[in-house]
Amino acid sequence: QAIHLADYRPTPFVLERVDLTFELDPTETKVESRLIFHRREGTDPEAALVLDGDELTLSGLLLDQSELPPERYTVAPDRLEIRGLPAETPFEITVTTFINPSANTQLMGLYRTNGIYCTQCEAEGFRRITYFPDRPDVLAPYTVNIIADKAANPLLLSNGNFLGGAGFGPDKHFAAWFDPHPKPSYLFALVAGDLGVVEDTYTTLSGREVALKIYVEHGKEPRAAYAMDALKRSMQWDEEVFGREYDLDIFMIVAVSDFNMGAMENKGLNVFNDKYVLADPETATDADYANIEAIIAHEYFHNWTGNRITCRDWFQLCLKEGLTVYRDHEFSADQRSRAVKRIAEVRHLKQEQFAEDAGPLAHPVRPTAYREINNFYTATVYEKGSEVTRMIATILGRDGFKKGMDLYFERHDGDAATVEDFVKCFEDANGADLSQFSLWYHQAGTPVVTVAEAYDAPTRTYTLTLDQAIPATPGQPSKKPMHIPLALGLLGASGEELAPASVSGADFADGVLHLKESRQVVTFAGIGERPVLSINRSFSAPVNLSFPQAEADRAHLARHDGDLFSRWQAITDLALKDMLDGVRHLTEGRNAAASPALIEALIATARDGALEPAFRAQALALPSEADIARALGENSDPDANHAARRAVLHAVAEAGRADFEAIHAAMGLHEPYSPDASSAGRRALGNAALSYLALAEGDPARAARAFAEADNMTVQFHALSVLAHHFPDAAETRAALAAFEARFRDNALVMDKWFSVQATIPGEATLGRIEALMEHPLYNARNPNRVRSLIGAFSFQNATGFNRRDGAGYRLLAAQILDHDPRNPQLAARLLTAMRSWRMLEPTRGAEAEKALRSIQSTPALSRDVKDIVDRMLG
Ligand code: ARG
Ligand code: ZN
Repeated sequence: QAIHLADYRPTPFVLERVDLTFELDPTETKVESRLIFHRREGTDPEAALVLDGDELTLSGLLLDQSELPPERYTVAPDRLEIRGLPAETPFEITVTTFINPSANTQLMGLYRTNGIYCTQCEAEGFRRITYFPDRPDVLAPYTVNIIADKAANPLLLSNGNFLGGAGFGPDKHFAAWFDPHPKPSYLFALVAGDLGVVEDTYTTLSGREVALKIYVEHGKEPRAAYAMDALKRSMQWDEEVFGREYDLDIFMIVAVSDFNMGAMENKGLNVFNDKYVLADPETATDADYANIEAIIAHEYFHNWTGNRITCRDWFQLCLKEGLTVYRDHEFSADQRSRAVKRIAEVRHLKQEQFAEDAGPLAHPVRPTAYREINNFYTATVYEKGSEVTRMIATILGRDGFKKGMDLYFERHDGDAATVEDFVKCFEDANGADLSQFSLWYHQAGTPVVTVAEAYDAPTRTYTLTLDQAIPATPGQPSKKPMHIPLALGLLGASGEELAPASVSGADFADGVLHLKESRQVVTFAGIGERPVLSINRSFSAPVNLSFPQAEADRAHLARHDGDLFSRWQAITDLALKDMLDGVRHLTEGRNAAASPALIEALIATARDGALEPAFRAQALALPSEADIARALGENSDPDANHAARRAVLHAVAEAGRADFEAIHAAMGLHEPYSPDASSAGRRALGNAALSYLALAEGDPARAARAFAEADNMTVQFHALSVLAHHFPDAAETRAALAAFEARFRDNALVMDKWFSVQATIPGEATLGRIEALMEHPLYNARNPNRVRSLIGAFSFQNATGFNRRDGAGYRLLAAQILDHDPRNPQLAARLLTAMRSWRMLEPTRGAEAEKALRSIQSTPALSRDVKDIVDRMLG
């Protein structure tokens, strides 16, 4: 039942135009779809027209306005086949269906959320609205007429430009929209209901005035101001950096509270999870603001990379997602601190994508087969896809990358394109050969680059031996060597860059070494002293390094590297080594500790007023428990990982106690709130200091005070996390949780934080809390944000609580998956991926995890989404 890339064929019919009329009704919406087709030149004149459906009932079918006799078509809930269609001339098919938006709990297609009609069509939701060639390579201009009760739905929105509207009978009205830009059905959107609006305008570079509208629930308008600001900055940035202008008279964003994902780039009418639109200082953290900025930008940037140029088929998903993530990363880097942004990206990449790539769900950035496409909206397609784009920019340089992008926009505007089309633009624009590089799209697994170094003083030569190996992944037992661009530098004893007189054994230009063979021995001549190697600067390639670099060298990099990312990496490497040693020592009955080298490097960094606070905060965050687990690779005991990490943090906290006190006092946590990056960085550093102080003092008083005195969510919520995670049973924590609940009980998005902070309390007692919180009146198993804040946070972010030795965490998740699956399979399948690293667990937990997975697998009537994930997980 898998779909294969190799089976791709264009449709036998070309869709010329789409004309949709919706008569909205909460339980019985009538959809009339008029489609003009003609037969594609050179195709079989007998070929039938096959339209996709999903749980549909056909209630009318016309060919050129007359009824079709039953022998001319075959219909099922998922398919409509029409035979005997004209060979030469265009024809019109009119399809009528009735759908029930209120019963649509999958949140795919047309559904109701809080009294609002809204749609989500990517990837295959449009076929839940009407029978249609629901695939991304079928593009057409759409006209959309919406008829609805006027009082309940003053707002009637769809893609494109507004054509007009009028009354319709006594209680109804209608609106018509026309989108002149041919688009695939997954970019269709309709929204109707009663919402408040924030309005602004933007004038494009060439002088088009664009109306900007962000629709939110009444009363929440002030909380959309930051999103509007981010939108205008995104529009300007895309003009300046990529030369891309907006192309309609209006751009709309609608925030809804029931949404399966982050947001959706429907042409001219983006639909967002409200969590990525709404923010004010009292209710949103700095991280929320940064997410809003990034996601507003991401969806806006899709207008060119995704909408104007779309994907030929879903195997090409990374063509739009990887590229658009790369674009939003660059945007945030330009708006904020580039080095700090890169560190945050790499943390996220490793946490999500490296974990995926190392487990049973590993797949190539450009897969060749899938059973359920919803399961391929993954960290690999998005984040590794972005890294692959970034490497093209690294290899070709800024100008070469720009030339390739310009050619891509010129050559493929209006197309449904492939990854090969994309890569060819960079080759053609630069006279480059990217054939070996393209393996990054096709080979799954994170490459391991092993580094060995030698310095020979008499000949003044420094030699690097680099080996690359790519682990086996499902369906790909052996791999070819790839083109890995490694940015590197050699540092002298006082931190200066040593320039080699010549380099042999590899291409080396502009500080980037191009590793292409499975082993390369690279010689740097004219190096007058033993250098300290700084390699994979700025994380130029998404690889794991195996490089047992000397502690002193890492400390040297931590202090002197000109590449800030590498300074952070050096500190992280020191810490990870201590934590891994700690895990070993704890199992041997010894104590875990932090090395003097780490303590010194970290505290020097924390105190260094010449470094930006956000960077210092990133250094203080140290590797996560998941980083330890991944580094172990197997036989992972989450309790030991937690204990070892905590011991390292504790040692740092004791040693730096006075410094942390000074930092906490100096970071202006009580200054008036502004969401800008440098203010956010100061809060991040102050908050990090508070975490260490809690460890050093072993007393909740300081965090309780910070909680009580905070006047913004960033500081307040951090204090609450410190209380909950370090002092879960203290009276101060109970009081703070109760105060927070009392203050924010009417704000669901803030209550999500309250659920999450409790779901992530380390230790085996948390499972009982989860069970109690599931009964909380504000918990709602039908709302994806609530479910993710409680069940998702517990399973993805609480290694010790979820991975209880007795398997109760896995059983809870399995029960939740089976509960959600019949209503919302996408949500259920996504929760299940929390177990993607189960094969790395020590045997007792591994056996419990496997039992839970098998219990899911053997349940009858699983959705295709959950079935696909569980089969691959056990496969
Ligand atoms: N295209 C959307 C975005 O990245 C996400 C859509 C997710 N769709 C899905 N079926 N999971 O901006
Ligand atoms: Zn996207």
